[in-house]
Amino acid sequence: MFEKNILCIGAGYVGGPTMAVIADKCPHCKITVADINPERIAAWNSDRLPIYEPGLEEIIKRTRGKNLFFTADINRGIRENDIIFVGVNTPTKDFGVGAGMAADLQYWEKTARQILENAESSKIVVEKCTLPVKTALAMERILISTNNAIRFDVLSNPEFLAEGSAINDLENPDRILIGSRETPSGIKARDTLVEIYANWVPREKIITSNIWSSELSKLVSNAFLAQRISSINAISVICEKTDADVGEVAKAVGLDDRIGPKFLNASVGFGGSCFKKDILNLVYLCRQHNLDAVADYWEGIIKINQYQQERFILNMLDAMFHTLVDKRICLLGFAFKANTGDTRESPAIFIAKRLLEEKAEVVVSDPKALDNARKDLAGESRTEAVSYIEDPYRAAEECHAVAVLTEWDLYRKLDYRKIYDVMHKPAFIFDGRNILDHRKCYDMGFNVYSIGKPPLTHF
Ligand code: UDX
Ligand code: ADP
Repeated sequence: MFEKNILCIGAGYVGGPTMAVIADKCPHCKITVADINPERIAAWNSDRLPIYEPGLEEIIKRTRGKNLFFTADINRGIRENDIIFVGVNTPTKDFGVGAGMAADLQYWEKTARQILENAESSKIVVEKCTLPVKTALAMERILISTNNAIRFDVLSNPEFLAEGSAINDLENPDRILIGSRETPSGIKARDTLVEIYANWVPREKIITSNIWSSELSKLVSNAFLAQRISSINAISVICEKTDADVGEVAKAVGLDDRIGPKFLNASVGFGGSCFKKDILNLVYLCRQHNLDAVADYWEGIIKINQYQQERFILNMLDAMFHTLVDKRICLLGFAFKANTGDTRESPAIFIAKRLLEEKAEVVVSDPKALDNARKDLAGESRTEAVSYIEDPYRAAEECHAVAVLTEWDLYRKLDYRKIYDVMHKPAFIFDGRNILDHRKCYDMGFNVYSIGKPPLTHF
């Protein structure tokens, strides 16, 4: 018999790893993860997990079948569990009012109704997915819409894990934030969740707030993080015009204790399922309240991110004699960051599409993201001009240029002389992550273009 029965609806990048770590840290709790997609559940129950995350496989092996279970039977899960985490996807709406801005809440609302229809006893419902502010209120309204005797307490418990380091982020979080109603039953529900996290998280790191502060904090955290990247990327443009080096600037600036060194790596742009979506949610919230100046301020982060990606292509064109027609370009990395196979909002998608528009041939290489890359580029015209080759040395064969788009450690350590030898000359490197030894590559014969540094060219 377990002391607590916990369900998570949504077995994705958030639900899967989060529940795996809770199961690992709380052997007295039974954790069930349910998803509408039976293939995903089958994958969670197999040796080939549906997502790649360092350290995840080991935890799943330790816990699956003991106190961690994956099922497609959501209704039964709702009936049998007292605490229900909701981790379904909430992408940006691509239709109707708020298209391109607001969150698409259809999956989330279906889940709320499904909980209502199937619950036979009182539940604590925990919002885990990123949602616009005041969504918990809507969840509450759906859940209390039929006047039955069952009680629902809705909590907001945003997830701050980053992909690629999810397990460490979950095991050693900077903070756990739990938002609740200030009513006796809201506080009781909150304390129940606090007790679960207290199994491994120090009490002083578990903070509580009202629901709306909690929801907003998630959006603001991501907006601040993305803002740092867009800030340094905006500076990278100035560096390229003035012969300053963005790495040196970031180092000097980051040594100020008040600013700090993290998240100041200039790049081809940020990707991932959260940053853009959350900022758009924030911008939409501002616009709904007629706060246009504030909305414009935050929207600037996204604009710089798009500009940075477009600039990357323009720099390639400029460097390669203003035409990419029939040139073979090798993309080293397609994931939106290292140590994940996730490609959602990856700058590589945009770069690959633009290269195809320029009539280039594209070779995509990535150690974990090739399946997703194939899906991302499937609908493109000229898909026949794309090939997918995991081995970077083979991928670079007969190429005119190599573009590093993901900061995989693997790419730092390649033998670039070997790569140079199999490429067309003049050979170009575009380092969209500033991870290579540029001087060394230049000395081998490459023309090297990086972000926010003077190019090293032989012309
Ligand atoms: C982010 C937040 O970090 C996390 O707290 C939240 O829960 C979800 O969103 P994630 O998107 O998984 O996590 O990855 P993150 O490490 O934040 O990187 C996002 C993007 O920014 C990546 O494309 C990454 O390559 C890029 N990045 C990051 C930079 O370009 N420069 C940097 O200095 C840091
Ligand atoms: P995140 O990064 O937020 O975890 P994912 O897309 O990785 O997002 O995961 C969300 C999961 O939620 C998917 O596996 C999807 O199948 C699942 N899902 C979406 N709608 C429902 C629903 N109504 N009931 C159960 N699961 C759902």
